[in-house]
Amino acid sequence: MSSPVRKAIFPVGGLGTRFLPATKAMPKEMLPVVDKPLIQYAVEEAAAAGIEEFVFVTGRGKAAIEDHFDVSYELEKTLGERGRDDVLDAIRAIGLEPGQISYTRQMDPMGLGHAVWCARKHVGNEPVAVLLADDLIMSKAPCLGQLIDVHKETGGNVVAVEEVPAEHTDRYGVLDIDSDDGTRASVRGLVEKPDPAEAPSRLAIIGRYVLMPEVFEHLAKFETGAGGEIQLTDAMAKMIGHIPFHGLRFEGRRFDCGDKIGFFEANLAFALERDELRDDIAGVLKQYVDR
Ligand code: UTP
Repeated sequence: MSSPVRKAIFPVGGLGTRFLPATKAMPKEMLPVVDKPLIQYAVEEAAAAGIEEFVFVTGRGKAAIEDHFDVSYELEKTLGERGRDDVLDAIRAIGLEPGQISYTRQMDPMGLGHAVWCARKHVGNEPVAVLLADDLIMSKAPCLGQLIDVHKETGGNVVAVEEVPAEHTDRYGVLDIDSDDGTRASVRGLVEKPDPAEAPSRLAIIGRYVLMPEVFEHLAKFETGAGGEIQLTDAMAKMIGHIPFHGLRFEGRRFDCGDKIGFFEANLAFALERDELRDDIAGVLKQYVDR
């Protein structure tokens, strides 16, 4: 029986080059979908999945994230004086207590695997969740909670997967599958960003993971992989055969908000889910479609 998953790592140290110039002075993870930054969706998902400790791996220019999860006394005072309880609730809603969030710095963005390794001292010897905020997931049950449920049953590593078009395998870590019941796939190999012709499947890992702490031992070797970066996929691949390893086709819809089209679509989908916005947005869309 594995220990409960109590901690989550949020790697937010990337450069966000695909969103320049927006991300020149603002972290990519602070880009809003409708009216909430990407990183807040990820933190809320983790909290809903039972996570108690939140570890951010940040870098230069990411201070806005720390401020976002802090109390803003001046803003609260001003809004209180103006009787704006509606928006006060919105800025207090996250509800994390002092000490539940910690920050560590990556210093040099050497890749996702390196970012995760930077959190090793905060995690210690227990399983840990990793959430990439630029993968935004709309689902009934939190995606991370779905992974944790599988982890409780199987132990070992569990990653969220999605079937991607064959021509997109070179954007993801891709599973080589042992057995597959249509929901869960047992993993026998992993390849980071394979060319479509060499991809072992079309099941791609998206930004939600439950990982056993042994991953840190592999990351500590600092081996570089695709793109000259220290890849999380390569460290995970070394764990196959030693521990159970499953990919879960989660229930829900993922939006790749690291990409302009995915980000735009997420704004549309999340806005259309909101009762107070749906009709107006639909009206605006219709105007453009009818042109
Ligand atoms: P991406 O591959 O999307 O890279 O990283 P990026 O730098 O954020 O964005 P682009 O591609 O230049 O536009 C996936 C996740 O890994 C984190 C990013 O913050 C993002 O959440 N990451 C990546 C790090 O924390 N450190 C790194 O060195 C690389």
